[in-house]
Amino acid sequence: MLKIAVLVSGGGTNLQALIDAQNNGKLPGGVLSLVISSKKDAYALERAKKAGIPTKVLLRRDYATQQDYDEALLALLDQNQIGLIILAGFMTIISETVIRRYENQIINIHPSLIPSFCGPGYYGLKVHEAALRRGVKVTGATVHFVNEVCDGGPIILQKAVEILPGDTPETLQRRVMEQAEWQLLPKAAALFCQGRILVQDGQTIIKEE
Ligand code: GRF
Repeated sequence: MLKIAVLVSGGGTNLQALIDAQNNGKLPGGVLSLVISSKKDAYALERAKKAGIPTKVLLRRDYATQQDYDEALLALLDQNQIGLIILAGFMTIISETVIRRYENQIINIHPSLIPSFCGPGYYGLKVHEAALRRGVKVTGATVHFVNEVCDGGPIILQKAVEILPGDTPETLQRRVMEQAEWQLLPKAAALFCQGRILVQDGQTIIKEE
C-alpha cells in the first residue's frame, strides 16, 4: 500500500472526500497515513482525527529558516514512508528542496481550469472572483503535479463547471467543490496509487486499467 500524506490549512472538505473514498473502497492501492496542517485550528484536523488518521501541526513560524522548516517536513514524510503527498488547500509554500525530493509525487487541486485564473495570488475565493470578473461561462477544477512553477506542473485531471447567472464567488466556489474538486481529487489519488499516471515531456498520460 502506498502511504499518502494530505497537507491542509482549512476546512478540509477535500480531505473529507479522500476519507470518504477510502471508506468506500475507492482508493485502491493507497492508504491515508498522515495529515499535516499549517494551522493549529484547521477543521481538517478534526476530520482526520474522526477518521483515525494521525495528525501533525507544522507551523512555518516555529522554524528560524526555510531550510529548518523543509528539514522538519522532509523528516516527517520520511519517517512515515510517504509515497504520495496531496496538497488539499495547503497555504504554506512548498520549497524547491521538497519539490525536487518528491518529483511527480506531489499533487495539488486548484479551483479553476488551468491555465486560467492560476499562478501567484490566485487562491481561495480570489480565483472565483477573477472568473466572475472576466465573465467566463465555464470554470472548473484541475488536479496537477506540483513543480517549481506555481500551478504550472503537469495536469492530471480537469473537470468543467458551469457559471450561472447571479453567481457570487461563494456560490461558485461551492459548486466547483461539489461538482469537480471532491470527485477529481480522490480519482487522481487512486490513479496515482495504481501507478496509472505517466509523466512525459511535462504532460501526463493516464494508462487504461
Ligand atoms: C479548495 O478550494 C481547493 O481547491 C483549494 O483550497 C480549497 C480547500 O478547501 N486549493 P478545503 O479545505 O478542502 O475545504
